[in-house]
Amino acid sequence: MNLTGRDFLQESDFSRGELDSLLTLAADLKAARRTGTEVQRLQGKEVALIFEKTSTRTRVAFELAMRHQGGNVTVLDPSSSQVGHKESIADTARVLSRFYDGIEFRGSSHDTVLELAHHADVPVFNGLTDLWHPTQMLADFLTMREHTSTPDAAPRYAYVGDARYNMGNSLLVMGAIMGADVRIVAPRVLWPSDDIQTMARDLASASGARITITEDARAGLAGAEFVHTDIWVSMGEPEEEWARRVELLRPYRVDADLMSMTGDPSAKFMHCLPAYHDQNTTVGRKVAAEFGLADGVEVSDAVFESPASIVFDQAENRLHTIKAVLVSTLADPQ
Ligand code: CP
Ligand code: NVA
Repeated sequence: MNLTGRDFLQESDFSRGELDSLLTLAADLKAARRTGTEVQRLQGKEVALIFEKTSTRTRVAFELAMRHQGGNVTVLDPSSSQVGHKESIADTARVLSRFYDGIEFRGSSHDTVLELAHHADVPVFNGLTDLWHPTQMLADFLTMREHTSTPDAAPRYAYVGDARYNMGNSLLVMGAIMGADVRIVAPRVLWPSDDIQTMARDLASASGARITITEDARAGLAGAEFVHTDIWVSMGEPEEEWARRVELLRPYRVDADLMSMTGDPSAKFMHCLPAYHDQNTTVGRKVAAEFGLADGVEVSDAVFESPASIVFDQAENRLHTIKAVLVSTLADPQ
């Protein structure tokens, strides 16, 4: 599968075969890292990382993936560079294309990353926008592949919570491409947009995926092998959203009761992180105090810390999967 020179902007730009080949390469790179046999294929390559929004995992995954492969990165923070406020995205794209072999962008508007890619002469990687989180999807699918008891079958998973944002959209559409059994479990006002639902159903009719979008947690969770959630108010959303979101999503909080609705005692819990599962963060403490969610917001601390939780395997897989994207798109042909 040749992905040389391709952008990585959203899941629907790729075929199931291409996404499968990225997952296979990520598993190989992970194994090579473990056995000390990694071969550097990005020596001399340089990638610019633009973070309009904050990040821990995505940033360190891009930085370390490039370093492990013999390349380098420069991190650009809009507040300490000209990006956006003094220089347009189109001009930034053309300037950075003269210096770098690739550009990663994390920010609010998906149109910004599309514009960057349109004007850049080098591959552009979407490190998260309000609409999609495609590098996270590779990590999530690799993690499900590693933890499933039926490796030959497509995964059966539910996403519970705020489903009209990046994680809900991406888990819906990625599952639709990959032939998965995807359940979106959320109050109707937080369902993915009609356009995204239509995109998913069209992709599902080609792949054989099963798509369920429901408000009924019991029906949506029955038989799911993996339960995903995400924070209830995402980066860049106004703080005032918390009251309404808590009211809408309290019945969908992932606790032991909700996990038991899968009917599978070995069902696994997943979260892209960061998570508000305890009161050791300023937001976690504030939301706990204001709304009486002392034992975690979107997920109870008990579930987060339970053996069912595979969130740190999922986090580690950001490294191996982002490395697979970088090697596939930037390495010189062998
Ligand atoms: N999951 C994820 O994207 O984490 P960061 O926000 O830390 O990059
Ligand atoms: N929905 C979250 C995902 C964080 C990785 C956000 O956009 O803040």
